[in-house]
Amino acid sequence: MDFLKYSLLILIILCFTYFITCYLRNRWTKTSAPTYWPFVGMLPAIILNFHRIHDYITKVLIETGGTFEFKGPIFAYMDMLITCDPANIHHIFSKNFSNYPKGPEFRKIFDILGNGIFNVDSELWELHRKTTMSIMSHAKFQTLLERNMWNIIEKRFRPILDAFAEQGNSLDLQDILQRLSFDSITKLLLDHDPRSLSIDFPHVPCEKAFTDAIDALLFRHIIPESCWKLQKWLQIGKEKKLTQAWEAFDEFLYPCISQKQEELMKKTIKDEEFTFLAAYIKMYNSWNKGDLGTLQNFLRDTFLNLMLAGRDSTSSAITWFFWFLAKNPLVETKIREEIQQQLHLKKEENLKFFNNEEMLKLVYLHGALCETLRFFPSLSLEHKVPLAHDILPSGHHVTPKTRLIIPFYSTGRMETIWGKDYLEFKPERWISERGGIKHEPSFKFPAFNAGPRTCIGKNMAFTHLKIVAATIIHNYHIQLVEAQNISPTTSIIMLVKHGLKVRVVKRV
Ligand code: HEM
Repeated sequence: MDFLKYSLLILIILCFTYFITCYLRNRWTKTSAPTYWPFVGMLPAIILNFHRIHDYITKVLIETGGTFEFKGPIFAYMDMLITCDPANIHHIFSKNFSNYPKGPEFRKIFDILGNGIFNVDSELWELHRKTTMSIMSHAKFQTLLERNMWNIIEKRFRPILDAFAEQGNSLDLQDILQRLSFDSITKLLLDHDPRSLSIDFPHVPCEKAFTDAIDALLFRHIIPESCWKLQKWLQIGKEKKLTQAWEAFDEFLYPCISQKQEELMKKTIKDEEFTFLAAYIKMYNSWNKGDLGTLQNFLRDTFLNLMLAGRDSTSSAITWFFWFLAKNPLVETKIREEIQQQLHLKKEENLKFFNNEEMLKLVYLHGALCETLRFFPSLSLEHKVPLAHDILPSGHHVTPKTRLIIPFYSTGRMETIWGKDYLEFKPERWISERGGIKHEPSFKFPAFNAGPRTCIGKNMAFTHLKIVAATIIHNYHIQLVEAQNISPTTSIIMLVKHGLKVRVVKRV
C-alpha cells in the first residue's frame, strides 16, 4: 500500500514539474509558439487563442521563419505543418501539384460541398474546371455579367443607399453587400433572382446559411475530428448550425434547379447552349468514371460550390475595402479622381455605367483592391495532404499523414515578403513604374490561390468589385459609425465579425 502511495506521489510531482517547466520555458524564451503539453499537445494554445486565431498563427509564423510544426493531442490525428513560406507555397501548389490533392481529409471536412469543384480531384476536377471555364470564357459571358450587375445596382442597391442617406440612419454595409453578391451570383448561375437585397431586408434562409456554414468549417480544422463528429451526432454547437445550413441550401437549390430543368426541357430558356445548367447536365451525362449520385444531387453540389465561391469572397473583399478607405481618406480621394478622369465624369454627374475597357483603366482602384486582399484574403487558409513523402523547400519533411495548412492571411502580413512597410495600406505597391498594374506572383499573393487550381472567377470578381466600389465612391461617401470593434471572423472566409456599421452621405 505504501509503495502505491509513494508511486502516486512521485507521479504527481513529476507531472507537476513537467507542466511548470513547459510553462516557464515558454515565458523565458518569450515565444508565442504554443507550449507542448503531455496528452493534449499544443491544443490548449489554439483553444485559448481561437478568438484571434488568424493573428495568433501569423505571430507564431513570424517568429518561426514562416513554417511551424503543430502537434495535436495524442491519437487525435491533428498534427499539422503550418506554412506561409512562398517557396513552400510554390512547391505545393505548382511545382509538385500532383502530390498535393485536396484528398479525403478535405472532403471529410467539406462534406457539405459533395461532388462540387472545390471538393474533388483528378479527372472529375478537370472536367468541372473545363465545363465552368467554357461558360465563363464564352464571348457573351462578360456582357451578361455586366448587364446583371448594373441592373441590380441601379434597381435595388442604389435605392437602398439613397433611402439610408436621406434618413441619416446607419446600416450594416457588409449585410447589404452579401445580399447583393448572393442575388447577383444566383441570377448569373441559375437565372433566378432570390431578391434578398430589398429595402425591407427579408430573411432568406439560404443567404444567411452561408455565414453559419463557413464558421463551422474553420472549427472543424481546429478541433479533433472525434469532437466535431460527436457534436454532429448530438446536434449541438456549430455542427447544429451546419446541419441547419445544409437543409437551407437544399430547400433553396433543389426546387430552383428542378424549375430551371423544366424550363430547359420546354425550351423556354433563351440561349440554352450558353447556360451553366445545360453545360453541367451535359457534363454529368458524359461522365462514366464513377458514381456521381443522381443528377439532382450533382447539380445541387455544383451550384452550391459556385455560389459559395461567388457570394462571400466578393462581399468580404468590398467590406474590408471600405473599412480601409475610411482609415485612409487620401486613398479614397485618389480613387475618386481616377474615376472622374478615366471615365470622363464631372463631379456632380451620376456614375451609372462603364464597360470592361473603361474598367481596365482604373489602375489605382485595382491596386487598392489587391492591397485589401493582401491584408484580408477572402479565403483565409488552404488545406492539403500529400500523397507521398516529400521534402519542402524549407527543409521540412512531410508524409501522407501530414496535414498542411497554408494560411493566406499570414502570407500577406510578412515583412520578409512585403518589406518594411508591410503594415501600411499602399495601393501604389501594385502599380508598375510605367503606370500599369504590377503583377505579383501567386505564391507571394495567393488570395486567388496558386498553380493549376487558381480561381477561375478572378476576372469576374474584379468586374463585380470595381462596379460596386466605383459606384459607391463616386456617388456617395461612406462614414464609419464610431466605437465599433472591428476584427475578422474566425471562419474560413474573412468577414467582419459584427458587420460594418456605416452612414451613407450622398455626393451626386
Ligand atoms: C474576391 C473574390 C474571390 C477570391 C479572393 C477568390 C479566391 C479563390 C481561392 C483562394 C480559390 C481556391 C480555393 C480552393 O482550392 O480551395 C478559388 C477557387 C475558385 N474560385 Fe474563386 N475567388 C473569388 C471570387 C470568385 C468568383 C466570383 C467565382 C465565380 C463563381 C469564383 C470561382 C472559383 C472556382 C470555381 C474555384 C475552384 C477552382 C478549382 O478548384 O480549380 N471565385 N477562388
